[in-house]
Amino acid sequence: MSINSATPVLAEEPAVPVRIATKRTILMCKPQFFTVVYRINPWMDPALPTDTSLAVKQWQTLYDAYIGLGFDVHLIDPIDGLPDMVYAANGGFVIDNQAYGAKFTHVQRQPEGPAYMDWFGANGFDVRVPVETNEGEGDFLLVGDVILAGTGFRSDSNSHAELSNIAGRPVITLRLINPSFYHLDTAVAVLDDTNIAYLPSAFDAPSLAILQERYPDAIIVTEEDASILGLNSYSDGYNVVIAARAKDFERQLRARGYNPIGVDLSELLLGGGGVKCCTLELRR
Ligand code: ARG
Repeated sequence: MSINSATPVLAEEPAVPVRIATKRTILMCKPQFFTVVYRINPWMDPALPTDTSLAVKQWQTLYDAYIGLGFDVHLIDPIDGLPDMVYAANGGFVIDNQAYGAKFTHVQRQPEGPAYMDWFGANGFDVRVPVETNEGEGDFLLVGDVILAGTGFRSDSNSHAELSNIAGRPVITLRLINPSFYHLDTAVAVLDDTNIAYLPSAFDAPSLAILQERYPDAIIVTEEDASILGLNSYSDGYNVVIAARAKDFERQLRARGYNPIGVDLSELLLGGGGVKCCTLELRR
C-alpha cells in the first residue's frame, strides 16, 4: 500500500515524553582542601597524586552548570583536614525543612556530620540529630514520594527506619554488594518523580527484584558508564548533569527526552565521587 499525503506516517514512532524542569535548591562545598590521604573506598589510592587546583577548577564547572540552569546554590565553608567534605551529598538528607544529619561510618569523615548540621541549623533548617549511622543523600534518594535507601557498605539499615519516622515517607531498603558502588547514588540516578536509571549488578537479588518491579521502564546503564561513576548524576526533571564520559547513558537520556549535560570531574573521581556526590538537595 502506498502512503498518500493523508497517512500520518509519524504515528509509528514512539513518542518522546515531554520532560519538565523544576528549579532546585542545593548545597555544595568547594574542594579547597581536597586530596586523597586515606582509603575508604576502592577508588581512593593515597599513592596517586591529586591536583587540588584542578579539582577546584572542575568543581567550578559543575557549580557554573547549576547556576546556568537557574538553581539556587548555597555553599558551606570547606574545612582544612576534611578532604572529603566536597562530597556534600553525604552531609545529610533534607526534606520538608527538616535536616536529618549524617553520622559517618569511617572515623576520617566523622567531623563532617556536625559541620553540616551546624550549617543546616544556621540556615533555618530543623536539624534532626541522627542516632544511626548514615551518609545522607549518598544513600538516600527521594523518588516522588518514596525514599530509596542503600545499605551494605555505609548507612546502617537502622537509619532507614529512623529516616522514615522523620520524613513520614516510605523508605525502601536496597542492599549494595559491589564495593566500588558503595553508596546508593553511585548505583542509582533519580531522573524525576517516577523515573530512575541504575546498575543491576550493584544490588543483591531481592533488591534488584524490587527495582525491576517498581521501575520496569528504568534506564539500565552499562558497566562501562557505571565504572566512571556515570550514574552519579543530578537531574532537575529535564536537565541531567552527568559525567561527560558516560556516553551511552547520555544517548539513553536523550532518547527519552532528557537533556544530558556532561561535566568532567576526573579529579574528584580519585576520591570516589562524581556529580551527585558534590550535590545535596535542600527541600524547604
Ligand atoms: N571519598 C568519599 C567516601 O568514600 C567519597 C564520597 C562520595 N559521595 C557520594 N555521595 N557517593 O566517603
